[in-house]
Amino acid sequence: MSRLVVVSNRVAMPENAGSASVGGLTMALAAALQQYRGVWFGWSGDTTPTFTGETHVRETGGVTIATIDLEAQDVQEYYNGYANTVLWPLFHYRIDLTEYERAFGEGYARVNSRFAETLQSLVRPDDMIWVHDYHLIPLAQELRQRGLKNRIGFFLHIPWPACQLLTTLPRHQELVEALFAYDLLGFQTQDWLNAFNGYVTDELDGKIHGDGYVSAFGRTVRVGAFPIGIDADNFAQIVQSPAAAKSYDQAAATNVYRDLIMGVDRIDYSKGLEERFAAYDQFLQTHPEFRERVTYLQIAQTSRSEVETYQDIRTRLDGVAGRINAAYGTLDWTPLRYVNRAYGRDFLAGVYRAAKIGLVTPLRDGMNLVAKEYVAAQNPRNPGVLVLSRFAGAARQMKAALIVNPYSREDVADAIKRGLTMPQPERRQRWEALMTGIETDDVSTWRDSFVAALKACRPQAHPVSAPTIATAGANETVIRSPAGRRGVEAQARRCDAGHHRNFVGVANIPAGADRADDRPIFAADKDAAGRRRHVAAAHREQGGVEEGLGGRPLGELAAAEPHAEGALGLGGGDVGSE
Ligand code: ADP
Ligand code: F6P
Repeated sequence: MSRLVVVSNRVAMPENAGSASVGGLTMALAAALQQYRGVWFGWSGDTTPTFTGETHVRETGGVTIATIDLEAQDVQEYYNGYANTVLWPLFHYRIDLTEYERAFGEGYARVNSRFAETLQSLVRPDDMIWVHDYHLIPLAQELRQRGLKNRIGFFLHIPWPACQLLTTLPRHQELVEALFAYDLLGFQTQDWLNAFNGYVTDELDGKIHGDGYVSAFGRTVRVGAFPIGIDADNFAQIVQSPAAAKSYDQAAATNVYRDLIMGVDRIDYSKGLEERFAAYDQFLQTHPEFRERVTYLQIAQTSRSEVETYQDIRTRLDGVAGRINAAYGTLDWTPLRYVNRAYGRDFLAGVYRAAKIGLVTPLRDGMNLVAKEYVAAQNPRNPGVLVLSRFAGAARQMKAALIVNPYSREDVADAIKRGLTMPQPERRQRWEALMTGIETDDVSTWRDSFVAALKACRPQAHPVSAPTIATAGANETVIRSPAGRRGVEAQARRCDAGHHRNFVGVANIPAGADRADDRPIFAADKDAAGRRRHVAAAHREQGGVEEGLGGRPLGELAAAEPHAEGALGLGGGDVGSE
């Protein structure tokens, strides 16, 4: 029987999902996989001195969890670096915070190759593979290069940026080309899908077909919007749990004479916390009659704390929270309670229910599950009001919320006031509309519609682009791959077996170099003892730069055409010929 193999960077089953590993992706996948006979593969969150590919396997709740450890350098370059210092800010429209470094790109490619290398041995021919999020965009391409012909789908949990923004990323085309190795690409909303399609037409001169398929790079993939939801039934049970009742009572007791306004987020600049604090400040300033009658509780767990921008935002939030409390606080009133920790889901559910306002004002968000959890936790007879940013993917579905512009403190302050004074019939009417959507478009609908679309994808030929390896002298190996740079790099890593640190990066062969084609080559120098010393992948692009390879210019290397001794058997699959 065909299994669903889910792959994501972070893996966290419910037993620990209430603690360290928060985030919409794990919450949704844990819920989705429990209903499925599946395997969940990803990073353990731990490091190892040397990557071995050893897989830690355990069974929990009918799901097989398989994880690998990564090297500290991998975590730095791939997770902190390319994923969270390059792609995350860029995809959240913060090019001012995007810091591209070449080593990040190399680490990203290396870890994706490591994921593929390990995953390959776990996958059966009839499994469906579902890859999640921006950490793993090149994974299908890596798997295809290893000969996998399974159906592979990709779901992006975060926004897709506008074309003009994406083109600020060095080698953006390569990143997008990697997506065309999938069979199905899923986005949270039609907006993000439109932005992707915009890139395909404007930048790639690709084609959007009327039937949900798009073509570029000589390939055609299916695309769609699959808005993620919460496990509404499970949440309804959690809200009734003794732990939720206890946290509800606690929150209600400490706010007997006050209305509770609540936010729950990872500390992330995309969540608009600084702007939210400023809006609350504005509200207190312009509506003194509400002072001492409201408390704003912001639960904000530290996130990605090794990344500088996350350290900066945390410091700034501490400052703003302190200033608000100093400006308005009294002996028995703390206007803003700002708590940096994770809570169990049952605890959160109780506090959500006690809050009169759910404040969800990200500057940009793929979807935002907190908005849905807040609504699902409400008392149907006396529900609270959701104030929701128009820039959260959730705003597309949750139109009965008070939709605000998170950049405007006046707008958010007005919505807080409107929510606090909204008559009960209007609150109930809005809540009913929101709750119907949450129940209809829950996590099972999301999972089932994605899996059904993946199953229904038109079968495609997946040419195995195995590299050709030919020796070009005693001290170097030249690899040429019809799969482009990533094919070359993947093979380089395989050849280099464990010595990847000698990989000195990708350079471009200048346009004038005397090569008959524009495909990349890879070369490795060996030292006197025959050990690989320097490696580089070369790729000709117009006006590209030239870099040294073990002291030799790439132009010289490019001129050294490989002697066609054929494949050395390291590739697997159909060996490409050039
Ligand atoms: P993101 O995936 O960007 O973090 P989402 O709003 O989509 O944003 O998902 C966040 C998830 O993490 C929600 O399920 C929320 O309940 C959970 N979460 C966020 N902060 C905390 C916290 N401090 N304690 C427990 N769970 C949290
Ligand atoms: O939901 C978006 C996302 O980036 C997920 O991929 C991720 O698991 C979650 O946010 C939390 O981030 P992190 O895994 O970096 O803690």
